[in-house]
Formats: sequence, structure tokens, C-alpha cells
Amino acid sequence: MGSRLHLSVVLILVTVLLSIFHSEQLQSSHSQTLLRIQQLLNFPAVLSSWNNNTDFCSTDSTSSLNVVCYDGTITQLHIVGETRALLLPKNFSIESFVTTLVRLPSLKVLTLVSLGIWGPLPGKIACLSSLEIVNVSSNFLYGSIPPEFSLLSHLQTLILDDNMFSGRLPQWLDSFPALTVLSLKNNLFNGSLPNSLGSLENMRILSLSHNHFYGPVPDLRRLRNLQVLELDDNAFGPRFPQLGDKLVTLVLRNNKFRSSIPDELSSCYQLERLDISANTFVGPFQLALMSLPSITYLNISGNKLTGMLLENLSCNPGLETVDLSSNLLTGSLPKCLMSNSNDRTVLYARNCLEETNQNQHALPFCHTEAIAVGIVPEGKKHKRVSKEVLSLGIVCGTLGGVAIVALLFFIITKRDVKIKIKNHQTKLISENAASGYSSKLLSDAWYISQTMKFGTVGLPPYRVFSLDEIVAATNNFDLACLMGEGSQGKMHRGQLKDGLLVAIRSVKITKNYSTQDFMQNIEQIFKYRHRHLVSVLGYCFECYLDDSSVRSIFVVFEYVPNGTLKSWISDRHYRKSLTWMQRIETAIGVAKGIQYLHTGIVPGVYSNNLKITDVLLDQNFVAKISSYELPLLSNLRKVGHGNPYREFQSPSTNKSAKQEDKSDVYDFGVILLELILGRTIKSRNVDTLKDLLQASITADGESRRSIIDPAVRKVCLDQSLKTMMEICVRCLVKEPAERPSIEDVLWNLQFAAQVQDAWRGDSQSCSDGSPISPLASRRMTFH
Ligand SMILES: *[C@@H]1O[C@H](CO)[C@@H](O)[C@H](O)[C@H]1NC(C)=O
Ligand SMILES: *[C@@H]1O[C@H](CO)[C@@H](O)[C@H](O)[C@H]1NC(C)=O
Ligand SMILES: *[C@@H]1O[C@H](CO)[C@@H](O)[C@H](O)[C@H]1NC(C)=O
Ligand SMILES: *[C@@H]1O[C@H](CO)[C@@H](O)[C@H](O)[C@H]1NC(C)=O
Ligand SMILES: *[C@@H]1O[C@H](CO)[C@@H](O)[C@H](O)[C@H]1NC(C)=O
Ligand SMILES: *[C@@H]1O[C@H](CO)[C@@H](O)[C@H](O)[C@H]1NC(C)=O
Repeated sequence: MGSRLHLSVVLILVTVLLSIFHSEQLQSSHSQTLLRIQQLLNFPAVLSSWNNNTDFCSTDSTSSLNVVCYDGTITQLHIVGETRALLLPKNFSIESFVTTLVRLPSLKVLTLVSLGIWGPLPGKIACLSSLEIVNVSSNFLYGSIPPEFSLLSHLQTLILDDNMFSGRLPQWLDSFPALTVLSLKNNLFNGSLPNSLGSLENMRILSLSHNHFYGPVPDLRRLRNLQVLELDDNAFGPRFPQLGDKLVTLVLRNNKFRSSIPDELSSCYQLERLDISANTFVGPFQLALMSLPSITYLNISGNKLTGMLLENLSCNPGLETVDLSSNLLTGSLPKCLMSNSNDRTVLYARNCLEETNQNQHALPFCHTEAIAVGIVPEGKKHKRVSKEVLSLGIVCGTLGGVAIVALLFFIITKRDVKIKIKNHQTKLISENAASGYSSKLLSDAWYISQTMKFGTVGLPPYRVFSLDEIVAATNNFDLACLMGEGSQGKMHRGQLKDGLLVAIRSVKITKNYSTQDFMQNIEQIFKYRHRHLVSVLGYCFECYLDDSSVRSIFVVFEYVPNGTLKSWISDRHYRKSLTWMQRIETAIGVAKGIQYLHTGIVPGVYSNNLKITDVLLDQNFVAKISSYELPLLSNLRKVGHGNPYREFQSPSTNKSAKQEDKSDVYDFGVILLELILGRTIKSRNVDTLKDLLQASITADGESRRSIIDPAVRKVCLDQSLKTMMEICVRCLVKEPAERPSIEDVLWNLQFAAQVQDAWRGDSQSCSDGSPISPLASRRMTFH
């Protein structure tokens, strides 16, 4: 019995030993590969123990060297050189190094730190298709992340810290569904972050510190497991990132954030380290942050945060470091901070606190500054902010979204527009960028990506304006700059410092709304940029100090210099009338604008109540719709009578989106009628004129031409005219469902344009020009 037991124990031992021996017996080719790696790395000290006789799989692991084998292959390779390793010699070739490395195809974990490796990372590294963890920190790798990287679908951890990688973060980041750690600290990455970052739901640590990133942080709320977000030393902004509530570490230090701090931050109960220093955050400092249960490090220094501290506030006993310095705080330091413990650091200089032992400003300083950032103290709530105070000022509202609407647009001349716009971008961009790096590079990537996204041409990027800029642009709302005033507030013409002309609408807010109330719609307003819309360039808030409620909103639009379409149709005295071709092109522009409003924005915008006076022409006679609906905040709609905003209906609440879209088609039909007849038309006359058009379609060419604008009678091709008349009549049909779709309208307009364009005979006589049939079958391309 005893010996049997003995025997089985021995058998088990032998089996175990054999299997160990088997699994640890490294294929000799792998040994050769490791020795070759040693050679290519120029025999670093850390590998000095490696030679022909080394049993790689059974040497003891150290913190700087570890080789893990499984089934005769190497699955983990961990080599850490001496800190501050020098560049490998000139004869080092990253190509041969990686070619050697990929002979270890089972590698799952690869650490090559501080080895002096230099060169652009070859895409070939993606042959290591099992890679899960990669740490190549502290080398001299440069260039962009190779696209082949996207094949590494098992990648969980990617650490490229302390190299010289550059370029933008690739959009294909979402090809790493398992990615939990992405650390790119201290590189030269630039550009804005791809939105795909927001879909990496497993992400736990995201460190992008110290690069040249800029622009908005994508929505990260879907990253439910995100614990560490480090964005310091970039040029991110202006809005506070949208984040989940599992954060432990949040570092936004030294960026270009200019918003207020969202309330939700106070519900991040796991937050231990919060550093938002050296930005321009405005609005109230949430005192609740000091009493978060886990918080140990809190640094808000170097912002423009306001608020009153009270002696009896509570704070988390675990707080080790609190830095409130250089803000606009008033009141007195909470007792809980002035504690006995020597380990605690509490800094609060350069505020307006009652304490005397750290350098403080006098109280009025904080009030004045607060106004300057667009926040008005209680007592001054309804007084006009003085010019002097404003001129101190910087950022006006920074946060939130904007609601505006039906905008009237007016006109002046803008010369050298292209050149000006170009300069303008460069300037805006360099504002957004980390210093010391070419704004031209920035303008290329940032600006091009923005325009491609929104189909706008020559527009500066969307941004937040400072109250100071608005005041300066309009010469403190000088009467001479007033373009008009309506139920929707005042419209001022303005000129930005760099010369760009803009139109600024100011909307006074009569009820108490916080900037947060406007938050939701900011993304919406940002989308109102299109070649055929008078586009939004940005906005600015003016707020009250006491409760940070919004006092006014300023919406900055592009300035369209060439007047309304109406003036080009009917103001014969001082304008040359539009040619027939220009009229068709204008109609195409308006139709494309409508199409964008319906389908280019989600939710679509219907019932825009368009009139010929709402269509403006730019310097190249490109038509732009100026008075379109913008979605509003639900609570703004409750303002009641005299509501300056038109009712917005989102498609979800709107049972008859199709019908809605047909009301725009009808309005478009009226504009078309006016273009054809060459005069403005009262709505009660539309039906009669429509019938006239209808009758003339079946009449002969001569009588058809007799009813249209004499200015184009001679040069229009009959087939083109007939097509325009037909589509016009169909748009004006009583029954909405029978009106054509906007796509149908566009197709017909394009057809009319191509027919007219193809006919380049002697343009002075109006021939009956037989329809050019081959064109009809040609595929029309919409741009
Ligand atoms: C590179 O040059 C060094 C001498 O500078 C030499 O010792 C080393 O063997 C060379 N390495 C390779 C891979 O040729
Ligand atoms: C290792 O073996 C190769 C041949 O297999 C030989 O050329 C080389 O000199 C050996 N290196 C050492 C350090 O023994
Ligand atoms: C990368 O590896 C080095 C060496 O092991 C380590 O010190 C460093 O912390 C690692 N980086 C990250 C982000 O884990
Ligand atoms: C807070 O942040 C500022 C600016 O980033 C920095 O200079 C300061 O040292 C930090 N304070 C503490 C106590 O770490
Ligand atoms: C703190 O003190 C203020 C007045 O100094 C008082 O209004 C407030 O209720 C106090 N809060 C608490 C929690 O005691
Ligand atoms: C980003 O860096 C790369 C490489 O340095 C450069 O080619 C590119 O133009 C830069 N892009 C921007 C937007 O600065």
C-alpha cells in the first residue's frame, strides 16, 4: 500500500518534471534569435549574462531582465536598460532589429525600455500578432505609429512614453477593442484626438501628457472603467472633458481649458488626485470637491475660479495637498485645512481671502476680475458693465451651448477675403497650440479636418470668443455697428483683431439659466457650418457672478458681403441683375442648404420658413441661407410670449417630419418663382402665378418666355426654363405629400444647369434650342 503510494508520487513527479523539461526546452532558433538581439542592441550590460550556453527559459528573472517560455517558445521578453541609455551607434538598424524580433512569433508581452533604440518603428512589428502588452518607453523612436499596428487586435497595453513619436493619433484606435492602457507621455504627437478614442470601452488608463495635442477632448463617457486620465501639458480645450465617474486620477494641468467645472465632477467619489491647475477655468469652485471621500491631492491653482470659502466647510481628512492659489476666491480658509498635521500642504496665495499669512489681493480685485471673466456680481446684475471693466476682461462665457435662431443677416464689403481668412486661421490655431511649434502645420491638419467635416470652405475653426473680443470687435456695441434689431435681439457688424468681418447677434437672457443649461446644445450649434449656410463661427457668454447665470449670449457668424438674393433680383436701380445661370446656381445652393438642414444634421431641422430675404450671396455669388431654425433648449422655450425663438421640434417628437420637410420645399418653390419672374411675390399671389406658370409650360416657347424676367428672357435656353418652371410648379402643389423631395428638386435643378451650360451658342439670341437629349441620360453628380 505504502510503496504503491510511493510509486504513484514518483510517477507524478516524473511526469511533472518531464513536462516542465519539455515546455522549458527552448527551440534553438529562438535562442539564436535572442543572441542576435543581444548583438543588435550592442551588448547592453543588462544582457551580459547571455551566451551560447544560456538556458534562457530557466534563468532567474530580475526587474530588468525576464524571459518567459511556454511550450518551447518565448511568450514574454522583458529587457530594461540603464536609465538614460545613450543612442545605439550609427550602424544600428531598427529594420534588422524588428526583423529579428518577429522571429519570436508567440510574443505576448514585449518590454524594451531604455535601450537606446532609435528609428521609425517598422510596420513589420505587427507580425507579432499575439502581442498583448507593449512597453517601449525611453528610447529614441520617432515617426508616426505605423498603420500596420491596427492589426494587433489583441493589444491591451500600449506604452510609448518618452520617445519622439509624432503625427496624429490614428482614427483606427478602435481596432484595439481590448485596449486598457494607452500611455503616450512625452512624445511629439500632435493634432486633435480621434473620436474613436471614445469607443474604447475597456480603457482604464489614458495618459497623453506632454505632447502637442490640441482641440476638444472627445466624449469619454462610454469609457466606464476609466480611472486615470492625464492630459497635462497639451493644448486641449476649451471645454471640460465629458467623463465617466470612476476616475481616480484626473490631470488637466496646463492646457487651454476655459469652461466652468461641471457639477458631475463632485460625484466622482473615487477621485484621489485632481489637478486642473494652469488653465483658465471660470465659474464657481465646487467646494464639495474638498470633501470627496478619497481625495488626497487637489490643485486648482492658476485659474479664474470664484466662490466664497467658509470656516465651517468640511474636507476629507485624507487631504495631503491642497493648492488653491491664484484664483478669485473670497471668504476665509476652512478650519479643516488649517490642521495640525505637518504633512499637509495648503497653498492659497493670490486670492482675496481674509487670511494674512499668504499674500492676498484686496477683495475688489477678485470682483473686478470676476466681472472681467464675464461674471457679474449680484449688486450689478442689471447694470451695464462699464467699458473700463470690460476692457480688463478676458473670457466671457466659455461654457455651454447656445440657443439662437432666425437670424437676419446684413451686408458690407469684405475685400481680400481669402487672404484674411487664411491669416485668421493661423492666428486662431496658434492660440490653440502649444507654443514653439509651427502654426502652419497646425492649420493644415486642424483646419482641413474641420472643413472636410462640415463642408465649409474658408471658414475659421469654430471656437469660444472672449467678451473682450466681442466688445472690441463691435467697438463696445457702437450704434454705428448696429445692423439691425428685431425680436431676436440686436445684430452688430464687427471686425475681429485680425481683420475678419463678422456679424454678432446678442441675445439677452431674461430668465435664470446657467451655462450648464446650454451645454447640451453646444454640439448642435457647432454643426451649423456648411457652404450654403451662413455659418456659426463661435459664441460667447456673459454671466453673473452670484449664481453664474447667463446674462447674454453672443453668437458670432460669418459675414456675408454681397447682400440678399432679393436685392439682386428686384433692386434694379443699383444692382446688375443675376444671369439665368446664376439664378439656377443660386437655387441649387439654397436647395443644398435645405438638404443639409434636413439630413446633414441630427436631428434634422425642418420648417425653416425661408424667404428670399433670408438668402445671402457671398463674394463669389454662392448662396447661403441665413435664417434657419436652431434647436433650442426646452426650458428656453418656456419663456412665454414674445419668445424670440421659434419652436423647435425634434424628429422624435415630430410625427410628421416628412410634412415638415415639404413645407421647406414649398418655401423653396416661392423663391424659385421669384427667381424666374424677377420680382418679389406676396404670398396671396403665389397661387395665381403658379397657375400662370403651369399654363405656360404647355404653351409654346415664345409665350413661356414672355412671362419671365425680361432681364434673362433672351439668354435662357427653353429646355432649361421649362425644367425650372416644372419643378417650381411641383414645389408649390397644395398637398404637401405631392411635392417633390429636396433630392428630386436638386436633380432637376442640376439638369436645368447642365442643359443651360451645354448650350453655349450665341448667347444673345434665345433659340428654342431643342432639348439636348444625351444630357438627360447623363448621370448627374451632386457635389
Ligand atoms: C556597430 O559598430 C560597433 C562599433 O562602433 C561595433 O562594435 C558593432 O559590432 C557594430 N554592430 C553591428 C551590428 O554591426
Ligand atoms: C556561439 O556559437 C557560435 C557558433 O554557433 C560561435 O560563432 C560564437 O563565437 C559563439 N559565441 C560565444 C560567446 O561562445
Ligand atoms: C514600462 O516599463 C518600465 C520598465 O519596466 C516601467 O518602469 C514603466 O513603468 C512601464 N511603463 C508603464 C506606463 O507601465
Ligand atoms: C499646483 O499646480 C501648479 C501649476 O501646475 C504648480 O506650479 C504647483 O506646484 C502645484 N502645487 C502643488 C502643491 O503641487
Ligand atoms: C457655516 O456657517 C455659515 C455662516 O457662517 C452658516 O450659514 C452655515 O449654515 C454653516 N454651515 C454649517 C454646515 O454649519
Ligand atoms: C504633426 O507632426 C508631424 C510630424 O512632425 C507633421 O508632419 C505634421 O504636419 C504635424 N501636424 C500638425 C497639425 O502640426
